[in-house]
Amino acid sequence: MIYNNADLVNIMKKFIIGKEISLHGLRSEDLSEDSPYFNWLDDLSLDIYTQRSYFPNNLKRFRSYYEHACENSDLILFGIYENQTGKHIGNINFQQINWLNRTAFIAYMLGEKEFTGKGITTQACLILMYYGFNKLNFERIHGGVSEAHLASQRVCQKVGLVEEGRMRKHLLRQGKRYDVITVGALREEWIEKYGELARSYYRNPKEIFPE
Ligand SMILES: CC(C)(COP(=O)(O)OP(=O)(O)OC[C@H]1O[C@@H](n2cnc3c(N)ncnc32)[C@H](O)[C@@H]1OP(=O)(O)O)[C@@H](O)C(=O)NCCC(=O)NCCS
Repeated sequence: MIYNNADLVNIMKKFIIGKEISLHGLRSEDLSEDSPYFNWLDDLSLDIYTQRSYFPNNLKRFRSYYEHACENSDLILFGIYENQTGKHIGNINFQQINWLNRTAFIAYMLGEKEFTGKGITTQACLILMYYGFNKLNFERIHGGVSEAHLASQRVCQKVGLVEEGRMRKHLLRQGKRYDVITVGALREEWIEKYGELARSYYRNPKEIFPE
């Protein structure tokens, strides 16, 4: 059966529905050994500027990360799904969540390379940050990017994660040390500057944030 875009959005699991993508919990088929996600974790070209692949991936390690997210409240993990096809194309999460300080670290990975450069990660960050500030009541969302990772730095600029400092020579990659640029956004400032833009990326913001 061939579904059209509207059908697919209706059949798909719903959580946060954006214009081109939706964010929701991972499906059982995304967590198998032959899933795209499992393979992204062994793809070293997706990990040039980050530090996921020190150990080869295996089902136990893969599942334990997912189970950690299910059983604890310091990690909220979302799959990024293309609305048009329902395809799992990446992940985005809030990690190191501190519910007392109301802070969270944001991290993302676009796994399916044919989707790069199309604004997908920008859209995912904006709708997730809006959700984080408005539903989860975070005061501060922060992150970290290698000084060499220009594409991710650009994503941070576009979503209002502003440079706050540097962890000098923090990251060792391919035998060379790199600074990590620390970035962050504060609730009130961010809502004022990026709130409207973020809402424009939801398919129907009133579904999630009734006025
Ligand atoms: C890096 C990554 C997040 C980018 O995602 P994406 O969906 O392609 O990002 P977007 O399309 O929303 O935006 C990318 C921006 O970076 C720009 N860009 C891409 N390569 C660039 C480069 N070498 N130098 C400068 N800017 C670059 C793009 O032009 C675009 O900016 P624009 O809209 O102003 O033109 C994605 O490729 C990825 O997840 N890679 C693997 C995992 C990873 O590195 N995660 C981030 C860890 S910090």
